[in-house]
Amino acid sequence: MTTSKTSRAAMALFAAAALALAAPAMASGGADLRMERAPASRLDDASLQRGARTFVNYCLNCHSAKYMRYNRLTDLGLTEDQIRDNLILGDAKIGDVMTVAMRPADAKAWFGVQPPDLTVISRVRGADWLYSYFLGFYRDEGAPTGWNNLVFPNVGMPHVLWAYSGQNKLVTTEFENHEKAVGAAIATKALALVEPAPGGKYLLRTLAVDQPGSMAPVQYRAMVADLVNYLEYMGEPSRNKRITLGIAVLMFLGVLFFFAYWLKREYWKDVH
Ligand code: HEC
Repeated sequence: MTTSKTSRAAMALFAAAALALAAPAMASGGADLRMERAPASRLDDASLQRGARTFVNYCLNCHSAKYMRYNRLTDLGLTEDQIRDNLILGDAKIGDVMTVAMRPADAKAWFGVQPPDLTVISRVRGADWLYSYFLGFYRDEGAPTGWNNLVFPNVGMPHVLWAYSGQNKLVTTEFENHEKAVGAAIATKALALVEPAPGGKYLLRTLAVDQPGSMAPVQYRAMVADLVNYLEYMGEPSRNKRITLGIAVLMFLGVLFFFAYWLKREYWKDVH
């Protein structure tokens, strides 16, 4: 009796785990999202510095990063003076965490939702999601902020980088079945969303440029890649140290192996 109960509990747990693993693949309730891959450049300090600058200039007005201290940015090869002069806006001190000027209650009133803390957002969403999110904004006159997002439908956040990216509009195409719509989504090689529509049909939603921004698309993508790179770094700042330490340890072991092998040959030379 007890064994069957525990095994049933184990089965339920297993099923729940399997579901949790399967969930990301079917994001946003039955819709298929084709995301864009974030170009990874974790150890590129220049990219991380550019990302940090975008972050403090365009994100900290609304979002906080309460678990990140400014002086930690010395990790990225910046001096404390550089951080103070270029990255700290307002009267924060170098040892302070990245807080937000806006009061949470105001934020709630303005946007309907409180902008979440972004310190560990990359661990929740992943780099590709974040990269796609910043490519996914489009003009939507029906939305309270005038913006909507392919990756985050009905998002409460306005597109804060729109002056650089320009404005995109939504393009919807109807397909007879799921397979055809997904095939077309893959063929776009870009951000694309497939959604079920009435009558068993499927809609493919993609974006097209409506008004160009001040940056060329490739420049804007580079800016977003740097920003996402920074968000990833912030989620796990010590990872960079771990990677460089790991490489140093492997190199050390390589050199040690060479000497050990050489010593072994010296010892056994007279025996053979
Ligand atoms: C004008 C205020 C404002 C600014 C500036 C802003 N955001 Fe937001 N952001 C919001 C709000 C409000 C939400 C919540 C949206 C919702 O849940 O519908 C949000 C949501 C997000 C999310 C999704 C969080 C989730 O639920 O997973 C991410 C990621 C994000 N913002 C990143 C950024 C980054 C990076 C910047 C800087 C480039 C930025 N935001 C600038 C207001 C802002």
